[in-house]
Amino acid sequence: MKIFITRKIPDRGIKLLQDRGYELVVSPHTRVLTRDELIEMGKGVDGIISQLTDKIDGSVVDAWGKQLKVIANYAVGYDNLNTKEIAERGVVMTNTPEVLTETVAEHTFALMLAIAHRIAESDRFSRAGKYHGWAPELLLGTDVSHKTLGIVGLGRIGSRVAHHAVKGFDMRVLYYDVKRNENFEKEFNAEFRENVDDIFKEADFISIHVPLLPTTQHLVNEIRLKLMKPTAYLINTSRGPIVDEAALRDALKNNGIKGAAIDVWEHEPELTPGLSDLENIIITPHIASATEETRQKMGELAAKNIIEVLEGRPPVTPIKI
Ligand code: DGY
Repeated sequence: MKIFITRKIPDRGIKLLQDRGYELVVSPHTRVLTRDELIEMGKGVDGIISQLTDKIDGSVVDAWGKQLKVIANYAVGYDNLNTKEIAERGVVMTNTPEVLTETVAEHTFALMLAIAHRIAESDRFSRAGKYHGWAPELLLGTDVSHKTLGIVGLGRIGSRVAHHAVKGFDMRVLYYDVKRNENFEKEFNAEFRENVDDIFKEADFISIHVPLLPTTQHLVNEIRLKLMKPTAYLINTSRGPIVDEAALRDALKNNGIKGAAIDVWEHEPELTPGLSDLENIIITPHIASATEETRQKMGELAAKNIIEVLEGRPPVTPIKI
């Protein structure tokens, strides 16, 4: 059986597949494949490990051929897959939940602390030789402890961020989700808000953890940014298009909000013009799950999903539609 890996992944997943005797085709490029390359390299294979940067719909699957049984997306998010069209063609899809929850929650908290304590800005200041000695009002930041955190999307990652907020920083937690979770409320003394706008009005820090769907695109728009307190911060480690980046830039520029930290961009890898000129934003390049340990685990899970399906067993982490 033949597996196509659309971009090199860490070695443990690759080794699992090799030990099983599969033939591997790994993209030789250190960039996203074009649609034509993606189609060409995947023709005739039985399984595919895809990246969140590969746009896969029914026509791509048709070109790959009827022998294809499984697409294992190397990510928890799968907005790059047209799940309806792929499922209609009888191809199983899987993703990589759980293994990256801890790491993404850590990165979210790292961003929150870094923007509140002006870490990146202070680093730039120090390197530029601007520090001329201690001063009472030098680079004043904002405390995170005891503040109100608003979680938008209470999945695995959102819940873990809430855990750190409550256990580590005595924060008050508000959350919005399509589903209310009373057990979570009891455990973390958290408060549900039925209207997401209330999160934007009340929170000091807002952290976004919803998947990208037609209903969540630009969920953070000019109107909601205007609901935020001028002292509040926005953190986004979910998907870029959930935030209207031009509106975010304007809110940051006009002191409509105090700061933002984003790991995901609306038009990756392009950044909305003007955003990188601002001091009150931290921008990381979609690396929230990028630790050695987690990227290995994601590869192993993707490989296990391929093996299970190709050997006639149910996948470990199927995408259910
Ligand atoms: C995901 O898994 O969806 C992240 O965005 C990348 O690890």
